Amino acid sequence: MRPSITISILSCLCFIIISIYFILYRSDNSITSPLSEKPDLVNFEGGVISAKMGNATQKAELGRSTWKLLHTMTAQYPEHPTTEERKALQQFFMLLSRLYPCGECAAHFQLLLKRYPPQTSSKIAASQWACAIHNKVNERLGKDIFDCSNIQEKYDCGCNTTEDENDSSSSSE
Ligand SMILES: Cc1cc2nc3c(=O)[nH]c(=O)nc-3n(C[C@H](O)[C@H](O)[C@H](O)COP(=O)(O)OP(=O)(O)OC[C@H]3O[C@@H](n4cnc5c(N)ncnc54)[C@H](O)[C@@H]3O)c2cc1C
Ligand SMILES: *[C@@H]1O[C@H](CO)[C@@H](O)[C@H](O)[C@H]1NC(C)=O
Ligand SMILES: *[C@@H]1O[C@H](CO)[C@@H](O)[C@H](O)[C@H]1NC(C)=O
Ligand SMILES: *[C@@H]1O[C@H](CO)[C@@H](O)[C@H](O)[C@H]1NC(C)=O
Repeated sequence: MRPSITISILSCLCFIIISIYFILYRSDNSITSPLSEKPDLVNFEGGVISAKMGNATQKAELGRSTWKLLHTMTAQYPEHPTTEERKALQQFFMLLSRLYPCGECAAHFQLLLKRYPPQTSSKIAASQWACAIHNKVNERLGKDIFDCSNIQEKYDCGCNTTEDENDSSSSSE
């Protein structure tokens, strides 16, 4: 009798402790996710898809075009993005780190993203993050470090509303 009561009480205690842990863990998770400082691990699982890019000239050309795309994209990003828009930007970078068509670059970029997860809370956060991550690559390749306080002047988002309305009929293709 007595041992079985003790076991019952212990079982109950265990159950309660596990339940509390589970509830705390879950609520903690929902507070910090989906866009905390920590990366969303979903798209890291598959690893790099592209093969190595041997030709240094092509590698540099691809890099310049891609950086232009990334900096222009963050300059176009909303000042106040929705949760869904934030997720889109985050996933874009995660997928880029798998599909970037220079495999050896992609592998390094994956490590960078793990250490410095994409910042998606606003246009400024995203632009500054992209500039900083580009500087990390510059650093590794022995290039000059760019002054990120000039990022807004350097990359024109092309988001001038008065001209847009005038252009809309010709650019609809
Ligand atoms: C994700 C990614 C990973 C890469 N990994 C590698 C790699 O592992 N090995 C490799 O050999 N190459 C890599 N590259 C290519 C490399 O970063 C360069 O693009 C390439 O070497 C050409 O360099 P560049 O001197 O012409 O200037 P780029 O670095 O291509 O920069 C283009 C222009 O952007 C401006 N700029 C420079 N720094 C910044 C900054 N921090 N923020 C905003 N603007 C800036 C400057 O005006 C510069 O001329 C990678 C490119 C990308 C996009
Ligand atoms: C590398 O690519 C460039 C540009 O496409 C080309 O002109 C050059 O011949 C290539 N070099 C080699 C060694 O294949
Ligand atoms: C809109 O474009 C015009 C012409 O290019 C430019 O003079 C003006 O400064 C731009 N406005 C903004 C808010 O960028
Ligand atoms: C756009 O502006 C130009 C002059 O700046 C004008 O000639 C043209 O008709 C305008 N286009 C539209 C669609 O309003």
